[in-house]
Amino acid sequence: MADNTVHLSLEGTDESIELPVYSGTVGPRVIDVRALSKVGYFTYDPGFVSTAACNSAITYIDGAKGMLLHRGYPIDELAKHSNYLELGYLLFYGELPTKEQYEQFANIIRYHTLVHEQVHNFFKGFRRDAHPMAIMCGTVGALAGFYHDSLEASSEHDRKVAAHRLVAKMPTLAAMTYKYSIGQPFSYPRNDLDYAANFLHMMFSTPCEEYKVNPVLARAMDRIFMLHADHEQNASTSTVRLVGSTGANPFACISAGIAALWGPAHGGANEAVLAMLDEIGDDSEENIQRFVDRAKDKEDPFRLMGFGHRVYRNFDPRAKVMKETCDEVLSELGVADDPKLKIAKRLEQIALEDDYFVERKLYPNVDFYSGIILRAIGIPSNMFTVIFAMARTIGWISHWNEMVSPGSVKIGRPRQLYVGSDFRHYPADK
Ligand code: CMC
Repeated sequence: MADNTVHLSLEGTDESIELPVYSGTVGPRVIDVRALSKVGYFTYDPGFVSTAACNSAITYIDGAKGMLLHRGYPIDELAKHSNYLELGYLLFYGELPTKEQYEQFANIIRYHTLVHEQVHNFFKGFRRDAHPMAIMCGTVGALAGFYHDSLEASSEHDRKVAAHRLVAKMPTLAAMTYKYSIGQPFSYPRNDLDYAANFLHMMFSTPCEEYKVNPVLARAMDRIFMLHADHEQNASTSTVRLVGSTGANPFACISAGIAALWGPAHGGANEAVLAMLDEIGDDSEENIQRFVDRAKDKEDPFRLMGFGHRVYRNFDPRAKVMKETCDEVLSELGVADDPKLKIAKRLEQIALEDDYFVERKLYPNVDFYSGIILRAIGIPSNMFTVIFAMARTIGWISHWNEMVSPGSVKIGRPRQLYVGSDFRHYPADK
């Protein structure tokens, strides 16, 4: 399998070790460092900036080119010609579905959207002002207590059923967190609606009057789901893999992924974008520039949220599609003059021209535009990360499935560079 080798030698000694080098289909080559531990060394790579922790055939990102491929297909082509469920099938099963396979898959998802009625009781245990991500972490993990027939990671059948259940039930749980927070009754799913339209129905319908789903908004929602569906070995996906490597059940793994996604440096960024736009407040040139200057000041912790990415050192390809969707939604809703949007557009323009951002290749990322779209649709900002989690569930479960499928999972267990005290005795006089 190795197509080359590297030799590591320790200066001043005659110690040397040969390490195999592998090539993937595309992308950088990797050095297999596993043999190092046999000779008493470990690699040191906080933040995993140079470490591949697995093989994967699901998603490929070329950050320098701004390219994102799912099973080889570029995200912009998928966003144009496909939809979230078809992409979900592709991510999980590896190939685009035939028409029959798609219909069958969409039907399975449609008929698994209800959650067990007992799940409703969990919500009552939360304060009405609980963050919806806190409720999601709890209720998704709790699903393991309801669906005992799909917990066995080594069973292909259980893995498929768990994946279908999770993809189907996430929108239901997500909408329930919103309804609970505003004190309205939960809206049950409607099987005549497609995935995104059904989510909007569960979010915004009430028993008092008919709610008609706007197809432009449903399409925008579907795009948002697609653009967040998977992103290779990011923090939450790596969390799902790490938890999954212990043999934990799929619902526990996804709940851990939700927890990892909650942080503002990851999935919480779209919520943080809106908080930042609120904080900037006044759309005068002078005021906006003041915040840009703060973002550049190393003494100031303020950062432009929605800018920069660990992997993309070019325009985030998802952000391009998101920007188009943003324009469509705002013109459909007639809110193109929104002052927050004015600030956002000006920030984008400054960042694309300012040397600080240009030199560091800090482009707007997917979260910069998604927050604006979601806000225009009427979704409160504390639900943004929940929507990201819903969409990313198919990516997480596909990675988990890929990892556990061969039945040879090695438990994830990083090493450390210990910098604490050396051995010492408990003081005799204490
Ligand atoms: N505003 C101002 N300066 C920034 C920003 C920003 N948003 N992002 C990075 N920098 C600077 C940073 O200070 C550093 O400067 P210097 O080289 O002078 O020390 C340089 O750019 C490199 O930044 P880094 O922190 O080393 O980059 P990273 O790869 O560790 O961090 C990031 C990536 C996404 C966490 C970071 O860019 C950031 O905090 N962005 C804002 C939060 C955000 O929008 N996150 C969503 C990411 S996309 C969704 C997802 O996939 O999860």
